[in-house]
Amino acid sequence: MKDEAYDAFAYAYDQALGDRFFRSVRRLLNRVLAAHPTEERTHLDVACGTALAIEFFERRGYLSVGVDLSLPMLEVARQRARRLIAGDMRRLPLRGKFTRVTCLYDSLNHLKSSDELALAFTAIREVLGDDGLFLFDVNHPDVYPEIWGNDEPFIADGEDFHLRMATKFRKRDRIAQAMVTGWAVIDGKRIPIRERREQRAYSEREIIDALAAAGLVPIEMIEFDPYAEGRSVKLFFVCRHL
Ligand SMILES: C[S@@+](CC[C@H](N)C(=O)[O-])C[C@H]1O[C@@H](n2cnc3c(N)ncnc32)[C@H](O)[C@@H]1O
Repeated sequence: MKDEAYDAFAYAYDQALGDRFFRSVRRLLNRVLAAHPTEERTHLDVACGTALAIEFFERRGYLSVGVDLSLPMLEVARQRARRLIAGDMRRLPLRGKFTRVTCLYDSLNHLKSSDELALAFTAIREVLGDDGLFLFDVNHPDVYPEIWGNDEPFIADGEDFHLRMATKFRKRDRIAQAMVTGWAVIDGKRIPIRERREQRAYSEREIIDALAAAGLVPIEMIEFDPYAEGRSVKLFFVCRHL
């Protein structure tokens, strides 16, 4: 049965969060893609969510494929993309090779341990072409105690949705939790949203070690301030085969 509450979240996510982040990250993607031109334009977006990156790459002549674990996210994605696969980034259900692989908007922070991170990196290395590049961002580890550990909830409002995210951070195991509440209007009906989300904070060292364990190496690491807050809240990596 369709989970209406999650569908409402997927819709509100797209409108409130995904779109806001993508407007900012596209500048970085444009810069990195221009610095590393490729003739063969094949692209895989891992944890593609609502397919904002797929739309971006396809407009630049890439043949793009998206993979995500969430069927409701893929349902929203279908408005932007045709080649979508339900699957887990730790065991990608794909055989081909891609010249550009992306995993954006802190999707990798959804994995709860360095071993899981290394599993996802290994799965990605297996589908990355020999001269391919893997581009991803994670939340800067400092944002968890400072922002997720803060009592002030994040609120986003639109004409047809309301999102409130109350967050906390557990230093012991570096797990951040978000209680997401609100509503979205789907097919003319106001559907409530009530979800619990978890993320894990990763240090730069843990990420580089997990990449190395998977046979990947960063060639660039960019401290990224997507919302012009005057501090970097994301780490953006450009990686290739070791
Ligand atoms: C914050 S959203 C980012 C979505 C998209 N990359 C974007 O930039 O808008 C995180 C996404 O990761 C997906 N996700 C979480 N764990 C996953 C896993 N193990 N395998 C595949 N997708 C996963 C979620 O379903 C969600 O769509």
